[in-house]
Amino acid sequence: MGSLASHQVSDADFVAAIGVQWQHRPLAPEPGLAALLAQAQLDDGGKATVVQAVGMLVVDECVAHGYHSMDLVVLHPGTPGLDEALERFDKPHTHADDEVRYILEGEGLFGFFDAHGQERVLRVQPGDYLRIPAGVEHRFTLTATRRIKALRLFADTAGWVAQYTQRPAAAMEVPA
Ligand code: LAC
Ligand code: NI
Repeated sequence: MGSLASHQVSDADFVAAIGVQWQHRPLAPEPGLAALLAQAQLDDGGKATVVQAVGMLVVDECVAHGYHSMDLVVLHPGTPGLDEALERFDKPHTHADDEVRYILEGEGLFGFFDAHGQERVLRVQPGDYLRIPAGVEHRFTLTATRRIKALRLFADTAGWVAQYTQRPAAAMEVPA
């Protein structure tokens, strides 16, 4: 009955218990921004326009946690090296700095582990804001559409590498 019992914990309570901040910050993109987000890929100018337009929605978080820079990560089926990147993201890991993602388009799956090693997979979609504090174990993958755009916030881009925890983990499944 272990997994049944653990599933009585809501996603919100599960992630809160491990220190992850998960909020919904509604996006109401004006038509120009919506058109940019609808594109599979964006050039640097397009990315900068998106960052400028949505950055104001997370300014409070920059102030609260000392995030000094932001960028836009864009993944789509044509992204060079996508499979290799997903193989890295899919392995349970931690970072020395917070991992902060504000999902703007597409979707993804984040896996988190409780104190017993039980994994909970969260599907993130536009408007979801996640702050995974430094040291909190997680992993990530895309869904079948293989497409996401997310704002990333950084306190320090230099030290931002993955430390793998070596936890064996099966393929993530899309939650019901
Ligand atoms: C990362 C995410 C995807 O480390 O966990 O980039
Ligand atoms: Ni990570």
